[in-house]
Amino acid sequence: MDIDRKAFLDSLGGTEGVARMDHEARADALESHMMSELNSAIAAKKYPTAAEVEEQIETRSYRAGVGFMMVSRSGELVKRLAPMPERPMLADFFRLRFADTAHHCLQSANLAMKNGMSEEVVLACLLHDVVQEIMRTDHGWWGAQLFEPYVSEKVAFAIRYHQTLRYYADQSVGYEYPELYRQLFGGDYVPPPYIEATYQMVRKHKWYMEPRMVAVNDLYAFDPNVIVTIEPFEDIIGRHFKQPREGLGFDGSPVAHMWRTIIRPDQPL
Ligand SMILES: [Fe+2]
Ligand SMILES: [Fe+2]
Repeated sequence: MDIDRKAFLDSLGGTEGVARMDHEARADALESHMMSELNSAIAAKKYPTAAEVEEQIETRSYRAGVGFMMVSRSGELVKRLAPMPERPMLADFFRLRFADTAHHCLQSANLAMKNGMSEEVVLACLLHDVVQEIMRTDHGWWGAQLFEPYVSEKVAFAIRYHQTLRYYADQSVGYEYPELYRQLFGGDYVPPPYIEATYQMVRKHKWYMEPRMVAVNDLYAFDPNVIVTIEPFEDIIGRHFKQPREGLGFDGSPVAHMWRTIIRPDQPL
């Protein structure tokens, strides 16, 4: 590392200051100076700019919004999927289809439960990101739509708006803007106007705390040592999720095709 000699000496009180220090104190001062220089170098270079993130678009063979089950980001071949029961229930999707999102959602729901959240918030946490299997862009809205016929309005509200609230800190509940977003969107990223307008609306809404609590319990990194299964949530699902008798995808609801897409993503048309 290059040391700016004059700046370093000035920080110690100039040559006179240094003359008063013994050898060990000088070595300590040099080390702490180098550490703080290193920290500011890391801080300055840590995040891409939003423009740099934009430049990455043409380096990929897929669009960033495509769902996890639809494309292999690592370039590996996709695997043949296990067959689903004739009348699939929500838990079957967790076991057989939500390969990339189930851990994250189960762990978020587990955390929400441990934090004493209401059953509706726990359910919203359990469901909040699974739609990213088929679509990631605006996943709050897609996710709410996927679940709307089967959950309360409040749960759908929590799912829809958790995406927006992720961009806005709320110190009252200890929620900070995520580090990951600086890496993903760029250090200087500003959410688009529709997200800002949505935030202003949700902030004043009587149900503001529902999506906010999903954001608070939303985990970025899951702990590989903690394996959470769907079983602890079966009771909450039973009380708050209206499972259609015909199975998800076959109940003739306005979103049945979305479920069938998850069941058969290899179907070309
Ligand atoms: Fe999300
Ligand atoms: Fe999440």
